[in-house]
Amino acid sequence: MKKRRLGRTDVEVTPIGLGCMQFAGAGFYSLGFTPTTQDTVDSVVGAALDGGINWFDTAEAYGRGTSERSLTTALQRRDVEPGEVAIATKWMPFPRRAPNIGRTIDTRLSRLQGYPVDLYQIHLPVALSPISVQMREMARVLRAGKIRSIGVSNFSAHQMETASRALEREGIVLASNQVRINLLDRRIENNGLLEIARRLGVTLIAYSPLAQGLLTGRFHENPELLRALRPLRRMAGGYGRRRMARTAPLIDGLRAIGSAHGATPSQVALNWLVSYYGDTVVAIPGASKPRQAEESAGAMGFRLTEDELARLDQLSRTASAQHPAPAPDR
Ligand SMILES: NC(=O)c1ccc[n+]([C@@H]2O[C@H](COP(=O)([O-])OP(=O)(O)OC[C@H]3O[C@@H](n4cnc5c(N)ncnc54)[C@H](OP(=O)(O)O)[C@@H]3O)[C@@H](O)[C@H]2O)c1
Repeated sequence: MKKRRLGRTDVEVTPIGLGCMQFAGAGFYSLGFTPTTQDTVDSVVGAALDGGINWFDTAEAYGRGTSERSLTTALQRRDVEPGEVAIATKWMPFPRRAPNIGRTIDTRLSRLQGYPVDLYQIHLPVALSPISVQMREMARVLRAGKIRSIGVSNFSAHQMETASRALEREGIVLASNQVRINLLDRRIENNGLLEIARRLGVTLIAYSPLAQGLLTGRFHENPELLRALRPLRRMAGGYGRRRMARTAPLIDGLRAIGSAHGATPSQVALNWLVSYYGDTVVAIPGASKPRQAEESAGAMGFRLTEDELARLDQLSRTASAQHPAPAPDR
């Protein structure tokens, strides 16, 4: 699959990147994920690079810089030069005001150990300053050469448009909006996000593209695995018995279609996501094991037919009916 530009910027990314929330270490995120050691991070990042992934999504909030540092340590150990891959990170807006963006950017750069910020995102629409003021500050930081492009995350269609308009006044384009999108969560089709992203030329970055592992089929195959999940993940993940039953035909469909391509259910789910919406959507699956990153990268290695895309569209509509989506990661 060809690389795509993030919005109308010159940042080029593979349709699949690697989500690095799993590298957040101890603290809040360990309520959801078992903390990974640096050795594991090294092998996960190595598997992603070997599979052709060229970008990584991290955040200040992922262990207050722990993920940023672990990711870049792994890149250094692989002799990846700054600029050879793209790095997206995020500013944590709560409880902060816009000037904090400029005050803390050097800390982000120091956590990234010499790797540039190719995309800087506002993590959530909850800052104590209006969106237009946050964008003005982002523009200032960009003009100072500290970041390469600007994005947002968890912004509604209206908030995204406000951010885009504010940046336009500065002569800058909004690159992206990172939101939850997967075969079981297609709200972008009804809440205006997809339509407005296409109109504005903004890329939608799909987080939780595997519905936190549900779309891999591993919990359908072996429900006992659910017991091993950390409490927050089990609670927020939507793994109730009724939902597992309702999603089973989708998993069977992913498996059947995958067998025609020598692909796994997770690879078919990711391929659908970055194909069905054209170039507008890219995805950042997370991985806690190198095999998972390798598998995710492999999702870029085949092409689903129009019939297969349509079949998955149908199966996903039946599977996702009535399920309320879990809250964002913070
Ligand atoms: N902006 C936001 O508010 C926000 C919110 C959430 C996430 N994110 C970003 O999006 C990224 C991905 O989201 P996510 O981690 O929530 O969900 P996800 O990518 O849907 O799920 C990742 C989890 O699925 C399992 N998995 C992945 N590949 C697998 C495979 N091939 N076989 C079996 N299991 C597999 C792993 O679970 P185990 O670790 O249990 O094996 C992995 O930790 C994050 O890393 C983060 O960068 C952003």
